[in-house]
Amino acid sequence: MSAGHVDAGRDDGQSVHDLVGIGFGPANLALAIAIEEHNAHCGGARSLRTAFLERQREFGWHRGMLLAGATMQVSFLKDLATMRDPSSRFTFLRFLHEQGRLVDFMNQKTFFPTRIEFHEYLSWCATGVSEQVRYGRQVHSVSLEDGGGSDVLQVRSRPADGSAAEGETLRARNLVIGTGLTPRLPDGVELGPRVWHNRDLLPNSRSLKGRSHRRFAVVGAGQSAAETVEFLHREFPDAEVCAVFSRYGYSPADDSAFANRIFDPGAVDDFYAAPDDVKRSLLDYHSNTNYSVVDPDLIEQLYRTSYQEKVAGDERMRFLNTTALTAVEEREDGARLHLRPLIEGEPYTLDCDAVVMATGYRPTDPRTLLGPLAEECLTDGAGRLRISRDHRVLTTPRVRAGIYVQGAATEHTHGITSSLLSALAVRSGEICDALLLDRAGRGVPAPAGAVEAAASLAVTTD
Ligand code: FDA
Repeated sequence: MSAGHVDAGRDDGQSVHDLVGIGFGPANLALAIAIEEHNAHCGGARSLRTAFLERQREFGWHRGMLLAGATMQVSFLKDLATMRDPSSRFTFLRFLHEQGRLVDFMNQKTFFPTRIEFHEYLSWCATGVSEQVRYGRQVHSVSLEDGGGSDVLQVRSRPADGSAAEGETLRARNLVIGTGLTPRLPDGVELGPRVWHNRDLLPNSRSLKGRSHRRFAVVGAGQSAAETVEFLHREFPDAEVCAVFSRYGYSPADDSAFANRIFDPGAVDDFYAAPDDVKRSLLDYHSNTNYSVVDPDLIEQLYRTSYQEKVAGDERMRFLNTTALTAVEEREDGARLHLRPLIEGEPYTLDCDAVVMATGYRPTDPRTLLGPLAEECLTDGAGRLRISRDHRVLTTPRVRAGIYVQGAATEHTHGITSSLLSALAVRSGEICDALLLDRAGRGVPAPAGAVEAAASLAVTTD
């Protein structure tokens, strides 16, 4: 058991958790760390008893896009802990030190580790709080106990592998939904053996290795699309790679210093306090820090490759810009794209071995998990959740349990950093504090076993 942890995971089905989390991506992982450190520090009656449910079999962060050489879009200092507490044992620097790579990393003189290395860091963090999480559990519904008259939530999950093993219900005074994003596809497009979303790029492309290929197509003009073009071009040296998008060219991501301040913890306060029209303007002004934009180094690299191929008279990387995708047909051993030039020319078709839809993600609406409880959540004029500064969904007085949300579902209230990593360390401290305040306000007794567990920890850690 890790230091400060108080019977967070295992359950007799009767006791009530202070918090049950749905999803265990970086957002809820950062929260588990903040709680772990709070418990280690305070222990005893102030400990929070938690359980996080994750449908993957083990920790994984966008595994299908862990492309060799792809780097983080955020400084390693914006890891899961440093901005909340630089002395935390869960910082990226501490991870490097434990791996014996601190000096080697420093010699690179970069703030941006590879995505593969950051995934290793996240997995290392997840191991450090493993008692708080149950993998392979898909949460399918949440409701209030006793048909609504209680301040306890019931969180129901089943095995994510579809096995017939029994479902499980956890009881909780608070819930935090951190279920991430859902792949977005153009209307009418369905995924299939040769029509992929870039989320599944690595496993799907592996299945095509070792054969010769004529052509791949990549739809989209954002970071994932550009990375996919570069990856397929490198991995399938006999194939042409066609990038299809309606823009004229890739647009660079703005990560200049002043614009980058939109990701600061203080920017979340500013955004939260701003009137609605200012919120909309800020999202518009700074969408090019994150949406439909590409790292300038990668743009240069793609351009250089395509120009060199032009010089050599052997063009394998092709850009079908100002082009709309109107349909995709899955065919035996391939896919047929129906394309329409936006400036001039007739619609045409393009046959390829596989097409990758790098068409982005949409927020997963937390309400889909809440069933009838969703009716108790307050919404604004646009039907979006009303959310307090400490990330709690505002509800009717019938709901006394706390429902917290992390991720893109709070972009309209907390700003552009909601779906990203930059604010996770600070945000998890805020949610942890809110849980403690709430518990103090309710006068809820210490969780069963907390005092004894804390006492035994004091003995073992001395
Ligand atoms: P995330 O999607 O990571 O995790 C949600 C988890 O919930 C998943 O593990 C999922 O399995 C689980 N889940 C969902 N529904 C469930 C259910 N019903 N029951 C149980 N479990 C469930 N941002 C950034 O700041 N810098 C960067 O460099 C990058 N790089 C990057 C690369 C790529 C390829 C992508 C797609 C995205 C990024 N991002 C990013 C943005 C990205 O959203 C961010 O890095 C985190 O993944 C956000 O973490 P979350 O925990 O909110 O969601």
